[in-house]
Amino acid sequence: MAVRRALEKANVFAEIHEAPDVSTAFQLLRARPLDCVIIDYMLPDGDGLDLLKAIADSGGNATPVVVLTGHGSAHVAVEFMKAGVADYLPKSELTPSRIAQAIRHAIRVGEAESAVRRAHVELEEKVRLRTAELSASNARLQDEIEQRRSAHEKLIAFQEKLRSLASQLALAEERERQRIATGIQDEIGQRLALIKIRFRSLEVASGPGPHAHQFEPIRQILDEVIQNLRSLTFELGSPILYRFGLEAALEQLAEQFELDHGVHTTFEDAGRAKPLKEDLKVTVFQAVRELLFNVAKHARASNVSLTVRLEDGALCIRIADDGVGFDPSGADGASAGSDGFGLFNVQKTLEYLGTRLQIDSSPGRGTSITIIAPCADGGEQKSIHRTALSRS
Ligand SMILES: Nc1ncnc2c1ncn2[C@@H]1O[C@H](COP(=O)(O)OP(=O)(O)OP(=O)(O)O)[C@@H](O)[C@H]1O
Ligand SMILES: [Mg+2]
Repeated sequence: MAVRRALEKANVFAEIHEAPDVSTAFQLLRARPLDCVIIDYMLPDGDGLDLLKAIADSGGNATPVVVLTGHGSAHVAVEFMKAGVADYLPKSELTPSRIAQAIRHAIRVGEAESAVRRAHVELEEKVRLRTAELSASNARLQDEIEQRRSAHEKLIAFQEKLRSLASQLALAEERERQRIATGIQDEIGQRLALIKIRFRSLEVASGPGPHAHQFEPIRQILDEVIQNLRSLTFELGSPILYRFGLEAALEQLAEQFELDHGVHTTFEDAGRAKPLKEDLKVTVFQAVRELLFNVAKHARASNVSLTVRLEDGALCIRIADDGVGFDPSGADGASAGSDGFGLFNVQKTLEYLGTRLQIDSSPGRGTSITIIAPCADGGEQKSIHRTALSRS
């Protein structure tokens, strides 16, 4: 009643519902939304704190509460403030303006709290949605990583198969070359050698006569054919590789390189019993041939050395030239940024067989390329055998 009168005096017009006790107040609260609740500290069936707790438990936190009491004490005020009241008024201070001010303040506090609660709920919803989005994109990412990993594994397996296929193809090609080269050497080369011997006998037997001058050009042609056949056989393959082993074949390779390209070439073999597997022998031979061919194509060298030695149980074959050199820092450290395939192919094929290629070159400083192939049992050393191949 006192509140009603005070509000009228303060010209605050509001719909006011009165409740004589805690249970009626509770029913009122349940029945309709209220802008502000003013409660007495002492009520017939409990005190204001009980009602406050009941309001809070019922989820009615949003309604601001002002407490009136005649038993004001600091302790009671603290209890109410802790329980979340918007304001606390001793009845002795119940002037119209004070109560109007308390109600306005309580309503503002209530609105602010509602706004904070709404913002909090909205924020929680946003966080929930964002978390769901993040979980979904995380799952997609995991999925993508898994797919890429599996694609990568397939690619590696595919590359491995390709390497194996390339290696087998190279070996098959080399065997076929050897077969044809050996056939030419045995069938044609030896017969030509026989023809040359018989021709020489015929020439000697004929003695000087009217036709003697015709022998010389025929002999020249015969020598040329024999030489060309040797070159052809050599380009096809090295029968020596199969008959006498890698070192002999490399020596012949160096000799033929000098003959074909006119570059001073030395061969040095500092080891023996270098047991390499047959496949590796063939591949190493092909690699040296390709590297020498590169020297002829690119190096413009005056001198080339081919060195075979055993180092730490590995067969090291070094092809060094004093030519123009190049920058080996291209793709895979081998292709030198060129469109060429030779060096890359040599490197990959050797790698596949557990062998390394060490390239040491820079523009203007020549090139040294070493093939390092592990021997089956480490081999044994022997004294250096050096051959100067120059015929000049
Ligand atoms: N001994 C060398 N001296 C100077 N440059 C070289 C030498 N060996 C290789 N190169 C350089 O490295 C590049 C790559 O060599 P690679 O054998 O891969 O290709 P290519 O010989 O040009 O072509 P392909 O071998 O496919 O016919 C060459 O183009 C050349 O520039
Ligand atoms: Mg090449």
